[in-house]
Amino acid sequence: MSPSTSNLSSVWFKVTNLEVASGDGSWITTTDGDRYLDFVGGIAVTSTGHSHPHVVKAIADQAARGIHLQANVFTHDLLQPLAARLADITPEGIDTFFYANSGAEITEAAIKLAKQATGRPHTIVFQGSFHGRTHQAMAMTTSKTVYRAGHAPLPSGIFVAPFPDAKADDMKAEVERALAGFDNLLTTMTAPSETAAVIIEPVLGEGGYIPAPAGFLEGLAARCKEHGILFIADEVQSGAGRTGKMWAIEHYDVQPDVICMAKGIASGFPFSVLGYRNELDARWTTGSHGGTYGGNAMGCAAAMATLDILTEDGFLDNVNERGAQLANGLRELQAEFPTLTQVRELGLMVAADFDTATTTSALMAHCFEHHKLILMSAGAAGTSLRFMPPLNVSADEIDLALDALRKGLDAIARG
Ligand SMILES: Cc1ncc(COP(=O)(O)O)c(C=O)c1O
Repeated sequence: MSPSTSNLSSVWFKVTNLEVASGDGSWITTTDGDRYLDFVGGIAVTSTGHSHPHVVKAIADQAARGIHLQANVFTHDLLQPLAARLADITPEGIDTFFYANSGAEITEAAIKLAKQATGRPHTIVFQGSFHGRTHQAMAMTTSKTVYRAGHAPLPSGIFVAPFPDAKADDMKAEVERALAGFDNLLTTMTAPSETAAVIIEPVLGEGGYIPAPAGFLEGLAARCKEHGILFIADEVQSGAGRTGKMWAIEHYDVQPDVICMAKGIASGFPFSVLGYRNELDARWTTGSHGGTYGGNAMGCAAAMATLDILTEDGFLDNVNERGAQLANGLRELQAEFPTLTQVRELGLMVAADFDTATTTSALMAHCFEHHKLILMSAGAAGTSLRFMPPLNVSADEIDLALDALRKGLDAIARG
């Protein structure tokens, strides 16, 4: 065992064993000086690329004038400006913001808010979803058994509804089937009067980069409205410009009551945000939730700087153009290589499915070893590759990745 890793926990699952010295844009440099094209992006986090100078400067400037200006003790001078900024760019009606440090903390916060605001105990989640690894978040996660196994007992009061199957031939019928499953939960397991919230990823992330099909979220939102159930959009992975709109929910005709943000919102500084309707605020008892580091000044500075970049003219156009370039390139490969069975995309949330998990892992290994391209899989079956480059990735970098994939598929086809 190398001395540099011998004191580290083995609970971390590893995508690569690279020892990294630095990152810049879409690239990382190892301690040996090798350069790798990083299409994992900190697991969909480095929205503006590694160490964007504007974000670096904002963090450094803030550190010099205060690292931890605790949010219960003071109201530091970025808390409200960031909230005002978020109110401008989040879906209509979302105007009140709470800050924490990670995705799991923010999905937990969403459920705590929903329980107090509605006075109801239960939550509905969807098959294949991922909401984090703390106990409540883990209990709401159904994307893979490894996250839950051996951790029981998990919190109760969570009911799992179907998510439409991305491979269904008749998607309209599949949406109806999934909505009927949801209705069935409400009549057989958790009555509306006991159901505080629905929490859903508009695009399943860890579950395989599967965008909710047209009509599904709208059908759920209508049911939530009818029964006074809060609609929580978990945009931890799909938000902050990743899908080519600021929030994935904007691709649908739905106004969420609550929205969970993290990952790309602060370019990699640990920061998360809960956005919700102001009328819920009066029903969330002051002092009943919080956290030592929530609203951290450096996190706020990183988020402000990230939003400067995400809202620049043309920034989201690049997300859509590069997403289309990558997805079209993958579809060309699909026409050539029958092992590539499906391509899915919403902006730069792009996935490719292969016939077997063996093909997927062989392709990842080939791209890594021969082309210094870092990729990661998604989904329980291990057959999906997901692509999470920075949102300012260049056309040349997408071409490099496609070229590596072509060579990998060719090598696999030739055995
Ligand atoms: C949709 C979604 N929600 C919540 C989380 C948990 O975020 P974190 O790992 O920051 O706790 C993730 C992480 O992948 C996620 O994709």
